[in-house]
Amino acid sequence: MARPASWHHGTVRLRTLIPATAALSAAAVGYAAVIERNWFVLRRHEVPALPPGSAPLRVLHISDTHLTPGRKRLMSWVRALDELDPHLVINTGDSISHPRAVQPFLDSLGPLLDRPGAFVLGSNDMYAPEPHNPARYLMGPSSRWRIRKEPDLPWEKLCDDLTAAGWLDLNNQRGRLTVGGLDVVLAGVHDAHIKHDRYEKVAGQADPAADLRVGVMHSPEPRLLDQFAADGYDLLFAGHTHGGQLCLPFYGALVTNCGIERERVRGLHRHPADGPAWMNVSGGLGTSPWAPVRFSCRPEASLLTLVPRDSR
Ligand SMILES: [Fe+2]
Repeated sequence: MARPASWHHGTVRLRTLIPATAALSAAAVGYAAVIERNWFVLRRHEVPALPPGSAPLRVLHISDTHLTPGRKRLMSWVRALDELDPHLVINTGDSISHPRAVQPFLDSLGPLLDRPGAFVLGSNDMYAPEPHNPARYLMGPSSRWRIRKEPDLPWEKLCDDLTAAGWLDLNNQRGRLTVGGLDVVLAGVHDAHIKHDRYEKVAGQADPAADLRVGVMHSPEPRLLDQFAADGYDLLFAGHTHGGQLCLPFYGALVTNCGIERERVRGLHRHPADGPAWMNVSGGLGTSPWAPVRFSCRPEASLLTLVPRDSR
């Protein structure tokens, strides 16, 4: 008995469609894992945050390198950022993802370590990533950290080595630096994603006599951003979101993995929207080793050139 023509055409269409879809998916995963994951980009902004008459100040912001020892391209790209001649380097955490990544991370920074710098930690600096379905990233803020007690990554060595190089440890601490001839006060908190933030330890009005007040955190939680802004910090730095890591073209991030809204998952924004503070959320340079893909969300560092407030 002859099969109906529509059945036959439907089968042919399906036979073509399934391999075509599979090939397209494989190509997308290959692109996300091999090409875009190593397609680093520098995002530049001019930010009117300095007192009138100040010379421009270049601040390099890196975040979420999630370094494992084999990531040579990432390491050499970070190292070359020294050519930007930044006055100050801010690292908002999740620097390592491997027990032997501290030295490779220091090697990546290389000459940047000779410049003034400041850092906070992220949860991934303390806890090795666990294998899990990458789709879990898309299912809202992760909570698995809360049940883990003992850190299994060398976060203390990371802090000690960065501090020994002269960088300020801003984990629930304040600091002060003279950079580019400007008096800069800084305060930071440890990672709110694992409830290690203790804002009360740095709370209080930032010195109004300083030339610039900088707040640093890993995860851009609105309550922390509000507190820093209320205490008079001019410029806030955060990472953690990976810019969404897997984004849809023309739509953007599906999730932020924290309290910040999708529209501010990465980039330079005001905080609050009509307020005086600026906030730079880094989309980060790496990925979890268990979800080594980035799509429509290139890994990035940012260079903020701070200029006087009256120059715009
Ligand atoms: Fe991260």
